[in-house]
Amino acid sequence: MQEVTTDRIVIVGAGLGALYAALKLAPLPVVMISPEPLGEGASSAWAQGGVAAAMDAADSPENHAADTEKAGAGTVDPVVADLVTREARKYILDLTTMGTPFDRTVDGDYVLSREAAHSFARVVRVKGDQAGAEIMAALIDRVRETPSVQVLQGTMAVDLDVADGVVTGVAIQDADEARSAPIMLRGAAYLMAGGGSGGLFALTTNPPRIRGQVIGMAARAGAEIADAEFVQFHPTAMDVGEDPAPLATEALRGEGAALINADGERFMVDLHPDAELAPRDVVARAIFAQTQAGKRPMLDTRDVLGERVKTQFPAVADACARNGIDPAKDPIPVAAAAHYHMGGIATDHGGRATLGGLWVCGEASSTGLHGANRLASNGLLEALVYARICAEDIAASVDVATTADLVDLRFTAGGLAPDAKAVATLRQTMTDLVGVVRTGDGLRAALVTIAELDAAYSDSRAFQNMCATATLIAAAALIREESRGAHERADFPNTLSGPGQRSKMTLTEALAIRAEAIKDLT
Ligand code: FUM
Repeated sequence: MQEVTTDRIVIVGAGLGALYAALKLAPLPVVMISPEPLGEGASSAWAQGGVAAAMDAADSPENHAADTEKAGAGTVDPVVADLVTREARKYILDLTTMGTPFDRTVDGDYVLSREAAHSFARVVRVKGDQAGAEIMAALIDRVRETPSVQVLQGTMAVDLDVADGVVTGVAIQDADEARSAPIMLRGAAYLMAGGGSGGLFALTTNPPRIRGQVIGMAARAGAEIADAEFVQFHPTAMDVGEDPAPLATEALRGEGAALINADGERFMVDLHPDAELAPRDVVARAIFAQTQAGKRPMLDTRDVLGERVKTQFPAVADACARNGIDPAKDPIPVAAAAHYHMGGIATDHGGRATLGGLWVCGEASSTGLHGANRLASNGLLEALVYARICAEDIAASVDVATTADLVDLRFTAGGLAPDAKAVATLRQTMTDLVGVVRTGDGLRAALVTIAELDAAYSDSRAFQNMCATATLIAAAALIREESRGAHERADFPNTLSGPGQRSKMTLTEALAIRAEAIKDLT
């Protein structure tokens, strides 16, 4: 394989964590691997709710940490919850300084939205449902004026090279995998910030390329993966036949929007004292049950927002308009869709993976903040906090040159794109058998299908990465014989007593579970 060596720190990804880390590393030279033009293709830019932070005088980081731990159903690392929530305010102020136009009251205070399982209105928002896009736009402007940051748009990472447990390179291809053979890029350090796994499921709110590739790549290189079984399903993805499914932000329910079914029943009222603002896993399961029963769940914003929904929630209004829905007159059909992976590459409190030379932030990581069920709008916050932690740790522990030449990659022919039919089968299998409600038999059947696809389409590294992550999710779900947070086992409906245990697994261990499942079913 062709090799290119650089003095730059290599950042895989171009979402919020990647951009913020690049800025915090400046003036140390970095090169970012960005499959799409900046601002496109990253989950962060699609985030609607905002950033959770205790900004209200009556609120506190302690309340925020307590809500985070409660939502996480016994598997949140309290040290991480304390660290992240204590720092939250600082990041809102920093993003404001960087140009994010957060919504303000007439008195100049931050407008705070209420989302599920938060005991306070605590979500700092931008133009209603535009938080992700606007924060990203502000950071992209800063990155464009920062000479230490080189962005390689239209490239993607597919492999890590490891020697003696230390990462020594990352294989890069043209983002259109069919167009190039990989080049091994050897840098000063490696930060993985390339998103989660939602797109491994057929029904998802994640951008098309977010399919577990970064987690899978690290797993294939030997990194430990934590909490893989914990995948959060968002209750109100719009059920309008689009892939990915547009999101109808939880903030709508914070404003009082109701969940109803085709019979007009407000089904959450009997299910939980907080009704529509029950924890996200509870609402997702209720929506899933309504869908399974053919009762067509819908989000009704008509009474509480009327025409205002169109100006206050422009992303939701756009998606409705595209699909012939007038939310001032019609309820919006919804379904539970894979939204956020609490699991990911295991990190210590410094953002370090179990492989040397490798740091991780954002959804690709599993820091211990989210436990079995992420508290709404803690995702962007965690990405910011760990981007800063990783940047400082890299700067302190790696001897990085102060300047570096631009990286010049000249791709040659020789790549192979994942087979579209195989990808579709993998995604449908994940939705059908590893989705909102799981069973041992279903998970074993999923592992068999994943193994068959993995073997049949092993020429594509991107597909191998997807299969690795799918295997880890299904294997971890199979051996967790309880229901906890977002992980629901119909055959083990109870939560085990005592403190919850986080799962930690290598791909080798997951493959052994997969082999056992195949033996059991054949
Ligand atoms: O519903 C939402 O706006 C989602 C927020 C989040 O996933 O944090």
